[in-house]
Amino acid sequence: MAETILKCVGVSKFFGGLTALDQVDFEVNTGEVVALLGDNGAGKSTLIKCISGVYKPEQGKITFTGKDIVHSTPAEVRDEGIETIYQDLALAENLDVGANVFLGKERMKKVFGLFPVTDDEYMRQEATKVLDRLDIHIPSLKQKLVNLSGGQRQAVAIARALYWNAKLVIMDEPTAALGVPEQRKVLALVRSLREQGIPVILISHTMQDVMEVADRIVVMRRGKVAANMMRRDATVDLIVKHIIGASEVNE
Ligand SMILES: Nc1ncnc2c1ncn2[C@@H]1O[C@H](COP(=O)(O)OP(=O)(O)O)[C@@H](O)[C@H]1O
Ligand SMILES: [Mg+2]
Repeated sequence: MAETILKCVGVSKFFGGLTALDQVDFEVNTGEVVALLGDNGAGKSTLIKCISGVYKPEQGKITFTGKDIVHSTPAEVRDEGIETIYQDLALAENLDVGANVFLGKERMKKVFGLFPVTDDEYMRQEATKVLDRLDIHIPSLKQKLVNLSGGQRQAVAIARALYWNAKLVIMDEPTAALGVPEQRKVLALVRSLREQGIPVILISHTMQDVMEVADRIVVMRRGKVAANMMRRDATVDLIVKHIIGASEVNE
């Protein structure tokens, strides 16, 4: 049975006089992909930054697996198991795939029992296992990230999340900068995460992506939750009405 893993209640965030989030209630249950939609400036990124510890909301409560995380730092939130993949991926361009899966938590070994160096072979082997779990095949894991395609980099970021036992993955516009075949691959990754029991919050402008992978759709508008519906009850028309403000459609 699905249970609530993330719960935001009455979350408000102000930037000076601007209300970026206005009493937002939002939750994620185990095993579901939740699409977060809304026009530019609706508050989507601000909400996920509040969840991931980047911003402190002025009001409201955020709990993850029953634990209050509203005062946690981004590192603490990651340690709790929430992995956020931003558009500008926090990966190291000049390191190989293995090193990127271990970024910030590198595995060391000693040469001649003395000098600590990174254990590249171990990290590549471990990276291979987790990429296999996601059915991703990168020809050589010795390749530096700078030589990989956008979709392959997303895959590395997701592999890292999975390797470190993420309990929730948040993706902010993951397909925005990708070509069509790569977008397909990222959507397949989202499904793969769900199949492994890891819920996903997906921010996307691409309605087709959303209709394809989401179980539930939450629409934000001007800092508020404008709609919250199951995918099976949603149509593109209905979603668009909520995005642009249904009342204004009739005016
Ligand atoms: N760091 C910031 N400082 C001031 N205003 C911000 C900041 N971040 C976001 N905003 C404002 O908050 C509102 C919501 O932005 P954002 O969450 O980025 O929207 P979305 O991701 O839905 O496009 C917008 O009006 C935006 O200009
Ligand atoms: Mg945004």
